[in-house]
Amino acid sequence: MKRKLARFAENETFPHLFQPKMFPPVDHPLKGKWHTDFFKNENPIVLELGCGRGEYTVNLAEKFPEKNFIGVDWKGARLWRGAKTVQENKMTNVAFLRIMIQNILNHFSKDEVSEIWITFPDPQPQSTRERKRLTAPRFLDQYKQILKAGGIIHLKTDNKPFYEYTLGVIEENKHHKIYSTDDLYHSDADNEILGIKTTYEKIFLEQGSKICYVKFTLA
Ligand SMILES: C[S@@+](CC[C@H](N)C(=O)[O-])C[C@H]1O[C@@H](n2cnc3c(N)ncnc32)[C@H](O)[C@@H]1O
Repeated sequence: MKRKLARFAENETFPHLFQPKMFPPVDHPLKGKWHTDFFKNENPIVLELGCGRGEYTVNLAEKFPEKNFIGVDWKGARLWRGAKTVQENKMTNVAFLRIMIQNILNHFSKDEVSEIWITFPDPQPQSTRERKRLTAPRFLDQYKQILKAGGIIHLKTDNKPFYEYTLGVIEENKHHKIYSTDDLYHSDADNEILGIKTTYEKIFLEQGSKICYVKFTLA
C-alpha cells in the first residue's frame, strides 16, 4: 500500500501522464491538440487501450520514433510503470492518459488518431456485460469518431470466446478484417511487432494459452 501511494505521488510529477478528473467527464484541454500542444509534431498518433503497464506503448515507441504513442488505462499504479520507463529512457514520443475508455471522445477529436492497439482486454464473459467489452459495437462506434479513415485496429487476446466475439462484431457490422489467427505464435504473422509481450501475455503464455490476434479497419 505504501508503495502504491508513493507511485500515485510520483504520477503527479510526470509531465507525460495526464490524469483528468473522471467525474463528471469533460473535454480535455489537449483534445484536438495532442499534435500541436503536446508532441509538437504532426507524426501519427497510436493509442493502446487498456494498456496496463504500457509495455506495447513503450516497445512500439522505441521501434517507431517517427510515431507518437498514448497508453490509456484507468489504473494509476499500472500506468506508473510505463510512465517511469518513459522518464528513465527520456522518450519524447509517449504519453499516458488515465481515463475510462468509455470517455475517449472527451480526449480526442475526429481523425486525431491513426491506429489503435487493444491488448489483452478484460474478456467480460457474462452476456450482461457485453457492453463493457472493448470491441463491442458501441466502443467501435466511438473509435470510428477519432480514427482516421482506414486506421488499423489490432486486438491481442488469450481469450478465444472474446476473439470469436470480435470476429462476429466485425462481420455483422461489415467492418473489414485484414488478418486473424487463433494461434499467433504458430502463424505467418509478423512477430517482430506482434511478439512484444505484455505482463498479462507472459502470464497467459506460462499457463500454456494460445494467443489470438485480429487486425481490422472500421466500415
Ligand atoms: C487484463 S488487463 C491487460 C493490461 C495490459 N494490456 C497487459 O496486457 O498486460 C486489462 C486492462 O484494461 C484496463 N481497463 C479495463 N477496462 C477499462 C476501461 N473501461 N477504461 C480504462 N481502462 C480499462 C484495466 O485497468 C487493465 O489494466
